[in-house]
Amino acid sequence: MGTLSGKTALITGAGSGIGLAIARAFSREGARVLVHDVKDIGPLAAELGGVPLQADLSEPEAVAALGQRAAAEGVDILVNNAGFQHIDPVEDFPLETWQRMLQVMLTAPFQLIQALLPGMKRRGWGRIINMASVHGLVASPYKSAYISAKHGLLGLTKTVALEAGPFGVTVNAIAPAYVRTPLVEGQIQDQARTLGIPEGEVVEKVFLAQAAIKRLIAPEEVAELALFLASDRAGAITGAVFPIDLGWTAR
Ligand SMILES: NC(=O)c1ccc[n+]([C@@H]2O[C@H](COP(=O)([O-])OP(=O)(O)OC[C@H]3O[C@@H](n4cnc5c(N)ncnc54)[C@H](O)[C@@H]3O)[C@@H](O)[C@H]2O)c1
Repeated sequence: MGTLSGKTALITGAGSGIGLAIARAFSREGARVLVHDVKDIGPLAAELGGVPLQADLSEPEAVAALGQRAAAEGVDILVNNAGFQHIDPVEDFPLETWQRMLQVMLTAPFQLIQALLPGMKRRGWGRIINMASVHGLVASPYKSAYISAKHGLLGLTKTVALEAGPFGVTVNAIAPAYVRTPLVEGQIQDQARTLGIPEGEVVEKVFLAQAAIKRLIAPEEVAELALFLASDRAGAITGAVFPIDLGWTAR
């Protein structure tokens, strides 16, 4: 019997990085996993004996359809994880990109909570885990949309925690610093260009500048925290934000 035996979990953005590590960890612990991504997620679903759900979270109608489909499966654990990054000075930041980031990283979680919370309340048990970021707590330059979305996601986390608590549903957020995933690897070139420094210096001078522990985080380390928050052992924890940030926010 695993920690999550008998539970069904929806993980968005499960095709890569942190979402992939969470899907594997939850499956290992006995959960039935609904794995979602914008890209083909069939092979991962087959590997984990789960259900593939493909949808583009930048389209509100697609998110609504995903929510309906997932609700029909009886989701006990929702992990709002999908996200992406775009770096530009605020005055050059494209409005369309701002709107897409807010839709994918704030409005889609809101829509999925709307779709899945009623079932959790009916069953008297539920877990919602929102993948925020250290950038939900502090800012860095050139990431106005990402940081606004992640700060907003923490507000959503706290609000829904208050509404859902009486029904046995906990709502928490994880706030990682730089995790070694394609999202971060893709930023190296952008950061070098925007800051005018060589690519080789980005990890040390940008990603790890605030860190007390000088290394990137492994996706599996974030998955372990998500696994704890999803378990019965975390039943008294709600409305909380968990930094896993190498000491960044201790400054
Ligand atoms: N990597 C980090 O350093 C880091 C740090 C803090 C927070 N986070 C957050 O963790 C989450 C996962 O990031 P990651 O590093 O694993 O990134 P990643 O790029 O490895 O994975 C993100 C996944 O989200 C999916 N996705 C992106 N846009 C989508 C859309 N429109 N519709 C559906 N799916 C979409 C991608 O296809 C991808 O599979 C994100 O919310 C990110 O903001 C990451």
